[in-house]
Parts: sequence; C-alpha cells; structure tokens
Amino acid sequence: MDFNIVRFNNKLHKDQVIELWTNVFGYESARNDPRLAIEKKEAVSDGLFFVAESAVHGVVGTVMCGYDGHRGWVYSLAVTPDLQSQGIGKKLMIHAEHALKNSGCIKINLQILEDNEKVQMFYRSLGYTTEKRISMGKEIPENM
Ligand SMILES: CC(C)(COP(=O)(O)OP(=O)(O)OC[C@H]1O[C@@H](n2cnc3c(N)ncnc32)[C@H](O)[C@@H]1OP(=O)(O)O)[C@@H](O)C(=O)NCCC(=O)NCCS
Repeated sequence: MDFNIVRFNNKLHKDQVIELWTNVFGYESARNDPRLAIEKKEAVSDGLFFVAESAVHGVVGTVMCGYDGHRGWVYSLAVTPDLQSQGIGKKLMIHAEHALKNSGCIKINLQILEDNEKVQMFYRSLGYTTEKRISMGKEIPENM
C-alpha cells in the first residue's frame, strides 16, 4: 500500500489521529486523552510528531517523538489494525529515528506495557533491547 510519512498537521489530521488512538490504545486515564495529548504536543512545536498518510485511507499510522537534549523518546506508535503487518510501523520507526538522530540525540528510549509481548517482538526486530529499569511516574493534575 502506498503511503507517505509527513509531519502532523492539526487541521488535516487531528480527527483521524484521535479515532486511530481511541481504537488502538483504548485510553483509560485522563492524562492520555488524545485531544489533550495533541494539544500539548502542538504547544511544544518541535516538529517531532508524524503520521503515515495514504491517499485511499487517510491517516494509517502515527508516531510521536520527543528530544529533551539528553534522550530521545518514542510514544504513540500506532498503525490502523486492518493495515498492520505490512511494514507501516517499521517505516514510521525508521522515520522517527532519523528525526531524532538529526536533532543530535544519542539514545532512544521507549516504554511498553509489560504484557505486550507482540510489540516487544516488533521493537526487537528493529534493534531495541530490554534494559533493566523500573519505570516510575507522577501525574501533575494542575496541567491536565
Ligand atoms: C506495533 C505496531 C505499530 C507495529 O506496526 P506494523 O505496521 O504492524 O509492523 P510492521 O509490519 O512494520 O512490522 C515491522 C517488523 O516487525 C516484525 N514484527 C511485527 N510484529 C511482530 C511480532 N509479533 N513478532 C515478531 N516480529 C514482528 C515484522 O516481521 C517486521 O519485520 P520485517 O519488515 O523484517 O518483516 C502495530 O502492531 C500497532 O499499532 N500495535 C498496536 C499499538 C501498540 O501497541 N503500539 C506500541 C505502543 S508501545
């Protein structure tokens, strides 16, 4: 299937991205609300949010990255369920890696839910390894 990877454009892509993320991730917590996530990323304006776009299907995949001057992070990698296993996810990751590399990033991190074996296999096929870390986090409710 033909598709291009382009920077996220709020006017063109927002509704389709929200639909894809709701479908693929089925968010439960307020901090992951797709509208809030898009709004916050747009406010940063770092150009590190990409969509895979097909003339026939519209948005068929997403990847959101961030570079904080120390590490690059990859978030929200998703491909339309009916179009998975056709190489879209891999191309999105390669695109994200190039963008982070061009920012000066020397290491990319990402997090996966512990029981998501399938996605672990996907990232392993792209050279990612499991690191001995415990992921910790804290919400800042004032900014939600
Ligand atoms: C993870 C995801 C983005 C992968 O996208 P995709 O388009 O289906 O993956 P691709 O077709 O590009 O696969 C890329 C490579 O990974 C390999 N791969 C994919 N799934 C695999 C699996 N379950 N086991 C082993 N290898 C796998 C493929 O063999 C392929 O390698 P190849 O090109 O050398 O054949 C997609 O499955 C998805 O949206 N999942 C739900 C959302 C999610 O969990 N995202 C991750 C959040 S951390």
